[in-house]
Amino acid sequence: MSTSDQETKLYVPSEAAVKAAHVSGMDAYRKLCDEADADYEGYWARLAREFVAWKQPFTQVLDESNAPFFKWFADGTLNVSYNCLDRNVEQGRGDKVAIIFEADDGKVTRVTYNELLTQTSQLANALRSMGVKKGDRVVIYMPMSVEGVVAMQACARIGATHSVVFGGFSAQSLRDRIEDAGAVMVITADEQMRGGKQLPLKAIVDEALSLGGCDTIRNVVVYQRTGGKVAWGARDKWLHDVVAGQAITCEPEWVEAEHPLFLLYTSGSTGKPKGVQHAGGGYLLHAALTTKWTFDLKPEDVFWCTADIGWVTGHTYIAYGPLANGGTQIVFEGVPTYPDAGRFWKMIQDHKVTIFYTAPTAIRSLIKAAESNADVHPREYDLSSLRLLGSVGEPINPAAWEWYHLNIGGGRCPIVDTFWQTETGGHMITPLPGATPLVPGSCTLPFPGIMAAVVDETGKDVPWGQGGILVVKKPWPSMIRTIWGDPERFKKSYYPADFQGKYYLAGDGAIRDAKTGYFTITGRIDDVLNVSGHRMGTMEIESALVSCTELVAEAAVVGRPDDTTGEAICAFVVLKRPRPTGEEARQIAKQLRDWVGKEIGPIAKPKDIRFGDNLPKTRSGKIMRRLLRSIAKGEQITQDTSTLENPAILDQLSQSN
Ligand code: WT7
Repeated sequence: MSTSDQETKLYVPSEAAVKAAHVSGMDAYRKLCDEADADYEGYWARLAREFVAWKQPFTQVLDESNAPFFKWFADGTLNVSYNCLDRNVEQGRGDKVAIIFEADDGKVTRVTYNELLTQTSQLANALRSMGVKKGDRVVIYMPMSVEGVVAMQACARIGATHSVVFGGFSAQSLRDRIEDAGAVMVITADEQMRGGKQLPLKAIVDEALSLGGCDTIRNVVVYQRTGGKVAWGARDKWLHDVVAGQAITCEPEWVEAEHPLFLLYTSGSTGKPKGVQHAGGGYLLHAALTTKWTFDLKPEDVFWCTADIGWVTGHTYIAYGPLANGGTQIVFEGVPTYPDAGRFWKMIQDHKVTIFYTAPTAIRSLIKAAESNADVHPREYDLSSLRLLGSVGEPINPAAWEWYHLNIGGGRCPIVDTFWQTETGGHMITPLPGATPLVPGSCTLPFPGIMAAVVDETGKDVPWGQGGILVVKKPWPSMIRTIWGDPERFKKSYYPADFQGKYYLAGDGAIRDAKTGYFTITGRIDDVLNVSGHRMGTMEIESALVSCTELVAEAAVVGRPDDTTGEAICAFVVLKRPRPTGEEARQIAKQLRDWVGKEIGPIAKPKDIRFGDNLPKTRSGKIMRRLLRSIAKGEQITQDTSTLENPAILDQLSQSN
């Protein structure tokens, strides 16, 4: 990488990097874009034949007859697990290491493609023997583990639709997802290990099921991770017992391309999370394709995506994309700060990681750690194996980008700042490392074939240099198919009438650089916050707060910028008792924080809680969130408050407790 222009900080890929890359140079990038422009369906069909092994080849490509419920490759059949496992074994990669698993305590286990296929087949047989059939939903509530990946692959193998729930979610959140999905089984572990601590999983599953509404669950399969004590009932089965004696081969269920591979719940603008439904064929194509092109994955690479399998990043760039390419990857159980904040750097050194993909939040907190403790500074580690870095989940600020580039990448590794969403299945706007000149803070240009654009409220393109709404003008293979059980909400959320139902609405604002046309994401345009790269709906947190009926009369939640977590959650609360101050306010704030942690999960705990006698409202009773956002930021209110019914409340809320 060389800086060709200090002014604009353009990082141009080195000649050697361009030469070696799958997409080699900007001409190659433009050629692919032109191919998609000239024959959109032909372009995707070509790649679908190249990247996916089909049982029954497709003859149809895109079916728009029931828009916006688009279908891709609808008459083709495949099995995703066959593509990720058997195909590698058949092509002679059976003894290649698929997963290098590093446990919280540092213990390393290597699993080959042969072994992964055997484990997956045995679990798939076990699931079948317990009556799990094609189309059944299976909830996976697992620690980061080989078993977690195997559980996902085993579901895919028998055509069951998995729904992974992040291990940090509470019993209530888990219950809601089990009920909404109508799942027949939960696969979990006794406990998970994080930062030297044992945290319960099975006990939370027990609690979730006891909350009611989960009558569809027939079995709970438990992976014994720690040997910690767990309660046991008639429906509970140990993973090691159910796989014992199962055949080591398992005929895959060949399913239609549109068959739902998974549901993944994510936050939207209402209180209820949405079950984003993905289809196996199109999703696998984009997972495989983006892993190869964006990460320029080669057979000798050691790839490490630090995400949890509970988020979409862990689906696409751990459970599916790297395996579909026959890659070798790291799966890490623990946290970046245990036993110290040098853990990531030590693991890169130990395993000679070549491609490293993480979130800006992690980078920012590790910068802080390195600055305060020289022992965990990345210069103490040999990071020379790295050749490519990635960023995902939230905007990366230029200062963090520069630090990452210099201190982790040694100034030589490109950084791919990948913009995408749970709904998009894979990368949408991202540099390609052997082609795109980089600008810190910009996710640069659309992946070839993704028709991203910035428009105004009426759907008209805005000129470069002017901010607007990010849309995608054409359907793409790995797009969300619907919201599980709520097709109307799918239409309203993603294909709103504002754009005549024609454009996919991402929910983010964006601006294109006046000269280069590069995209920069300017943040969500809906009531969704991004805290440490995790998506949180303000309404969800508000519902959790007001469900504390004993204390809370009313609550409004907004985000404010935070140096480490990107955004921080700020709650304004009206209590059913007089407004507390001082120590009492601190006590109640703690109580409410814990309450939200219990209702949703620790990631949803508000950082600030302020109490008022009321909230700022218009005469018609609407909460004026823009004022709350200013107060949360500590700004002077300069906005028009003439429609405000109770202006005095602003002063009260501005005083911190
Ligand atoms: C939202 C999607 C993508 C997988 C992890 C998060 C924000 C994501 C970037 C980026 C700026 C980004 C957007 C998006 N976002 N990547 N590179 N630059 N913003 O998936 O939980 O579905 O969240 O994350 O706001 O809409 P998610």
